[in-house]
Amino acid sequence: MAAGADVRCAVLALLVLGLLATGGDATAGFIKSPLSQRRLTQDSVELHCEAVGNPIPEIQWWFEGNEPNETSAQLWDGAWQDRVKINATYNLHSTSTIYIANLSSDDSGTYECRASNDPDRNHLSKSPKVKWIRSQANVLVIERPVIIGQYSSSAGKLILSCNISVSDTPIKGHKWMLGDKTLKVEEGSSASYITYTIEGNEEEHSGVYECIYETNPVAKGNVSVEVQPQVVAYKKSEHGNEGDTGVLTCKSLSYPPVKTWTWYKSDQTPVVNGSDRYIIKSTGNKTELRIHKLSIEQDTGDYYCNATNSWGPGSATVNLRVRSRLAALWPFLGIVAEVLVLVTIIFIYEKRRKPDEVLDDDDGGSAPLKSNATNHKDKNVRQRNAN
Ligand SMILES: *[C@@H]1O[C@H](CO)[C@@H](O)[C@H](O)[C@H]1NC(C)=O
Ligand SMILES: *[C@@H]1O[C@H](CO)[C@@H](O)[C@H](O)[C@H]1NC(C)=O
Ligand SMILES: *[C@@H]1O[C@H](CO)[C@@H](O)[C@H](O)[C@H]1NC(C)=O
Ligand SMILES: *[C@@H]1O[C@H](CO)[C@@H](O)[C@H](O)[C@H]1NC(C)=O
Ligand SMILES: *[C@@H]1O[C@H](CO)[C@@H](O)[C@H](O)[C@H]1NC(C)=O
Ligand SMILES: *[C@@H]1O[C@H](CO)[C@@H](O)[C@H](O)[C@H]1NC(C)=O
Ligand SMILES: *[C@@H]1O[C@H](CO)[C@@H](O)[C@H](O)[C@H]1NC(C)=O
Ligand SMILES: *[C@@H]1O[C@H](CO)[C@@H](O)[C@H](O)[C@H]1NC(C)=O
Repeated sequence: MAAGADVRCAVLALLVLGLLATGGDATAGFIKSPLSQRRLTQDSVELHCEAVGNPIPEIQWWFEGNEPNETSAQLWDGAWQDRVKINATYNLHSTSTIYIANLSSDDSGTYECRASNDPDRNHLSKSPKVKWIRSQANVLVIERPVIIGQYSSSAGKLILSCNISVSDTPIKGHKWMLGDKTLKVEEGSSASYITYTIEGNEEEHSGVYECIYETNPVAKGNVSVEVQPQVVAYKKSEHGNEGDTGVLTCKSLSYPPVKTWTWYKSDQTPVVNGSDRYIIKSTGNKTELRIHKLSIEQDTGDYYCNATNSWGPGSATVNLRVRSRLAALWPFLGIVAEVLVLVTIIFIYEKRRKPDEVLDDDDGGSAPLKSNATNHKDKNVRQRNAN
């Protein structure tokens, strides 16, 4: 017991000595400084700062607005009606990230990252001696321009348009996107009213199209083409074997997404999930009806997958055919029957052939064989002759 405690003490002492030896105090220094940024109102901004030193330095964030009468104020996690979040870690070195959400133009100004590892850094009376190192970034919040997106359809064409209200920064071009797909890029155009034409109708091309103006920062608007669900069945007719599990699937790739999926049987009776032998799985675009232990009488027929979204309903039909277990055997039985017939024919032919060969011999006189041995031997002899 006593020996164990001694060892522990020795180890601790060694550790402390080691720390003192290697750790000659180092004042704080930045390894990453926050970067200046431009943002639109309602956007958010993130500034990052990292410092090293021994001991590990503390990091603070300070803000000074652009108004001449404003003074520097420290920012805390939860400040500004909870729009400010600060995430700091103090491991091998110090890191701190400040996030400011829902920016307004009053948030424009200088954001300062301060770091210090001076033990007296937070001591009020000693402040003149204490050194905080500072690193600044400017955030400029610009009024978000209004972008009006619209579309019209005529003569099999869909024409999307965006119109941006006066922008504080020059427009250097624009592009159109759908999801992460770029549809059109126009560099160097300062147009504020822009269009994009699609061949086809709304039903085929629903979705949220984005128009992006190359201003600094970029300004994005959108044109939403919305239709009732356009439902399609994976397969219009499905086949299943009696006793197996039947799987019927429908999907809708239109916008807005489907809110609810419902399955109906031929006679308009809703299929209830979990009841009888039915399991329904619906995930956004897709719905799947599984019918366990298929029965010819009960399950054969038409099924409807009905979808609804905010614009109304849409549906598709799947026809299910259930074959008897025996039906699955038919192809196999067919092959067996075919083989049997073939074997019989060969057998009969072989039986008839022998007298023929004898006849041949008599007629031509040139037949190479005079043996009336078995077929097997017959073949061997033929081969030898060919060699
Ligand atoms: C600074 O001056 C503006 C008017 O110029 C005033 O609205 C604002 O409240 C002042 N801010 C402070 C912190 O005194
Ligand atoms: C804070 O930072 C840590 C490490 O960088 C990260 O794992 C964590 O998700 C961050 N927390 C928030 C709220 O962003
Ligand atoms: C963002 O700030 C504005 C006022 O500046 C406020 O009206 C709006 O509700 C805020 N939005 C969010 C999502 O907090
Ligand atoms: C674009 O919007 C402006 C107002 O912001 C309006 O004066 C102009 O007529 C619009 N242009 C088109 C082509 O609709
Ligand atoms: C489309 O723009 C409107 C404002 O114009 C916005 O409220 C909406 O969130 C945008 N939709 C998408 C999917 O970006
Ligand atoms: C149907 O029930 C199964 C479990 O019985 C469940 O996993 C599934 O999510 C349900 N489907 C729907 C559309 O509610
Ligand atoms: C809808 O389908 C698309 C592609 O077909 C897929 O990328 C997307 O994740 C689906 N959305 C949902 C909500 O399932
Ligand atoms: C489901 O869709 C089918 C086929 O379009 C339609 O006849 C039926 O009325 C729909 N059922 C409901 C409840 O909407």
